[in-house]
Amino acid sequence: MDVRGEMLRKLLLRRRGYSLDRSFYVDPDFYRVDLELIYYREWLFAGHDCELKKTGSYITLQVGDYPVIIVRDAKGEIRAFHNSCRHRGSRLCSAERGTTAKLVCPYHQWTYELDGRLLYARDMGPSFDPARFGLKPVHCESIGGFVFICVADEAPDLAPLRAMVAPYLLPHRLQDAKIAHETTIIEKGNWKLVWENNRECYHCAGSHPELCRTFPEKPTVTGIDAAEKDPEIAGHWNRCEAAGLPSRFRISDDGQYRAARMPLLRDAVSYTLSGRSAVSRPLSDDVTTPQIGSMMLFHYPSTWNHVLGDHAVSFRVMPISATETAVTTKWLVNKDAVEGVDYDLDELTRVWIATNDQDRQIVEENQRGILSPAYEPGPYSELHEGGVIQFVDWYCSFMQPRVATSGVPLVRVA
Ligand code: FES
Ligand SMILES: [Fe+2]
Repeated sequence: MDVRGEMLRKLLLRRRGYSLDRSFYVDPDFYRVDLELIYYREWLFAGHDCELKKTGSYITLQVGDYPVIIVRDAKGEIRAFHNSCRHRGSRLCSAERGTTAKLVCPYHQWTYELDGRLLYARDMGPSFDPARFGLKPVHCESIGGFVFICVADEAPDLAPLRAMVAPYLLPHRLQDAKIAHETTIIEKGNWKLVWENNRECYHCAGSHPELCRTFPEKPTVTGIDAAEKDPEIAGHWNRCEAAGLPSRFRISDDGQYRAARMPLLRDAVSYTLSGRSAVSRPLSDDVTTPQIGSMMLFHYPSTWNHVLGDHAVSFRVMPISATETAVTTKWLVNKDAVEGVDYDLDELTRVWIATNDQDRQIVEENQRGILSPAYEPGPYSELHEGGVIQFVDWYCSFMQPRVATSGVPLVRVA
């Protein structure tokens, strides 16, 4: 049976405002279609410019079946390549990060320049032309300190994303920040369940005692409706914009990305238990007003973020299988902030480490319940889960035309 045809039928039959049919969350073949049509075609958040400080700094990541390496070259450009040697395909770099003068394959030592050119391949004969065996490039662009990659041959136009979100990000100078801490957790849940959970705070009061000290659970903050009619939020936007920080809620026409600066509860300025700053130096020397709340940016399918006055937290969502997702969290602070002097690492990271673990448990229970043959799609709360409805609508409207036109049938393996 053609999997795409089956997916298309289920997309056409789906009931809007309800969770998706079970196959979308559990079926390995549906998962392959998600990879093929979303993760292998769209721009994905990979990491931060500030992780690639100097010539030869690199990070690696795995996008479905594609290992990718991102490196700063000798001219200071950030470049991405398929992490697969042009000799017999070995992975070039297995470390998650590092610094190297050249990219040297561990198998037979083919050696590549940081811009991907093949420099050296021993005893390949007189007719061997190294120019034909450079590393395969991966599209790579940086926006306000966020490095995006796209493994497709032709990448979608990134200009609209840049135009909308760069003004929100640039004052925070994340390209000059430093990573104070990083975690990766594996959530045993489909990547869409990770997103659905992220896009509502209906669950927050019951699950997140630490986060709820500072983060408002009201739907105007997390959702997509009526923030401008909330006088507290509108007042916050006016104050922040008067201070030169773009703040108003903006969402792309297709719903793939959104930016908005939201107030925290009471006088909180940071995600700490006390609500006080976790870092004594502002994240950006250009933004010294602490009461700016959190600039919340999401871009489907791979990232959501919180940028505050004293630090930022970025999240990267990478699917591993139909029922497993890696969530990588990075805490960014001013590059001159010193651990133990300007911030206490435990205080900085406590709330989101706890929140991530709570969310992992929620997502895993959600997945376990959906694995039951007795599961059937249930209704979202229009008041509290408008953000989830928006995500699911984006997913379905994104997939439907692509599934309908995506070429040769994908036949079920089993
Ligand atoms: S596979 Fe890389 S040098 Fe042989
Ligand atoms: Fe949560």
